[in-house]
Amino acid sequence: MTDRRTDGAPRSRTLFIKTYGCQMNVYDSERMRDALAPLGFRAVDAPDGADMVILNTCHIREKASEKVFSELGRLRALKAQKEEAGGRMIVAVAGCTAQAEGEEIQRRMPMVDLVFGPQSYHRLPEMLARAERETGAKLVETDFPVEDKFDHLPEERRVDGVAAFLTVQEGCDKFCTFCVVPYTRGAEASRPAASVLAEARRLAAQGVRELTLLGQNVNAYHGTGPDGREWGLGRLARAIAEIEGIARIRYTTSHPRDLDEDLIAAHRDVPQLMPYLHLPVQSGSDRILAAMNRKHTADDYRRLVERLRAARPDIALTSDFIVGFPGETDADYAETLKLVDEIGYAGAFSFKYSPRPGTPAALAETQVPEPVMDERLAGLQQLIDAQQEAFNHQTVGRTLPVLVEKPGRKPGQMVGRSPYLQPVHIDGDPDLVGRLIACRIDALRRYSLFATPLDASPEAGAPAEHRRNVA
Ligand code: 5AD
Ligand code: SF4
Repeated sequence: MTDRRTDGAPRSRTLFIKTYGCQMNVYDSERMRDALAPLGFRAVDAPDGADMVILNTCHIREKASEKVFSELGRLRALKAQKEEAGGRMIVAVAGCTAQAEGEEIQRRMPMVDLVFGPQSYHRLPEMLARAERETGAKLVETDFPVEDKFDHLPEERRVDGVAAFLTVQEGCDKFCTFCVVPYTRGAEASRPAASVLAEARRLAAQGVRELTLLGQNVNAYHGTGPDGREWGLGRLARAIAEIEGIARIRYTTSHPRDLDEDLIAAHRDVPQLMPYLHLPVQSGSDRILAAMNRKHTADDYRRLVERLRAARPDIALTSDFIVGFPGETDADYAETLKLVDEIGYAGAFSFKYSPRPGTPAALAETQVPEPVMDERLAGLQQLIDAQQEAFNHQTVGRTLPVLVEKPGRKPGQMVGRSPYLQPVHIDGDPDLVGRLIACRIDALRRYSLFATPLDASPEAGAPAEHRRNVA
């Protein structure tokens, strides 16, 4: 098998990537696509007949990894079909399930050609070449290499759209006792600020107006600055805000312990930093927070929210919650409801505790029965849904800046996002894509807002290339 045609161009092949889990995985999948493009791979949107299929997996809860095994069952049939027709389909399992269960995958699904963890995707072309050379060879790459994975990111990154993700940090050293991330994603590491800024500038030049800085524990960011000093996330956000064209900055996911004074001050000083923050608390009970090794109390969290609101009064918060953590009593659960009630969230994710192999909490003898977890989850979700609805309702009548993203379903309609990531529908033409427009919010229907643009004049300060249709 040869990778090159006689004219030297890479052989044209098809690639299907299925992504599970968090935004880091979405980002990693894009990078895998970029890494494979020079080898002639073109992304397709179904696995049938593809030359290569990658499942980029999530291991955070049990359901997430079980899904991978059922998908592999389906792929086994597609791969056999392709082989019968004389072709070859390379099947790869990437991401956190690969990292945590590499050998189990090989044992249960011997048709899988490549298994590699999140630290290894930059070596994908090399791994693929080996898998192709040695037909039938299995390759498992789940070490944490000492070298810096950020060094291997392909420079060329295609984006379509006005909003893009940008990884600034990887891994986590917090070791919450329920969580697999420190084991699957490894130690906390920050990308040097100059490299983040260079990528942000390249994205801005392509018409990107909104950047979401990503990291498992993004506000633990402590990259080396161009000045040789250590930069925190606040400093980084200030530098990104100076890049021409970048109108909005977000970051996710944060740990309350790592939200420092400078980042709070950046929320006050940097208008581009969106007043919408995902700040998971997990539980409102100090006893459970301690057992989770969260390293903060419910009151610490309340005080932090107060400081954020003092710095940026219009800030809205979202969170993650776990119900049924081992040993959680009705009283602990009531503390969680109380905290939610006091904080008032714009939305939140809530999960039933799922014991993950290798994490300390999975060994606890006081696991909460499933029906109790179900009941608690339903109660919490009801409260959160009511808060989310109330939050959405109170945006009606307000004037909010909307970043126009794409045409809506109806002709003459465009869809953008409010600072709170709510979809906002307005009347307008496709040449509004990429524009930040002040809109009066007229109505809420389900989860979407409908609005009237108040100011469709060219934005002050936005360079010409950001005013045109970037789609
Ligand atoms: N069980 C249930 N939820 C979990 N999360 C992480 N690990 C577990 C687990 N073992 C949730 C946390 C985290 C979110 C990404 O997933 O709430 O913030
Ligand atoms: Fe997992 Fe987040 Fe805790 Fe890190 S801080 S261990 S990623 S829950």
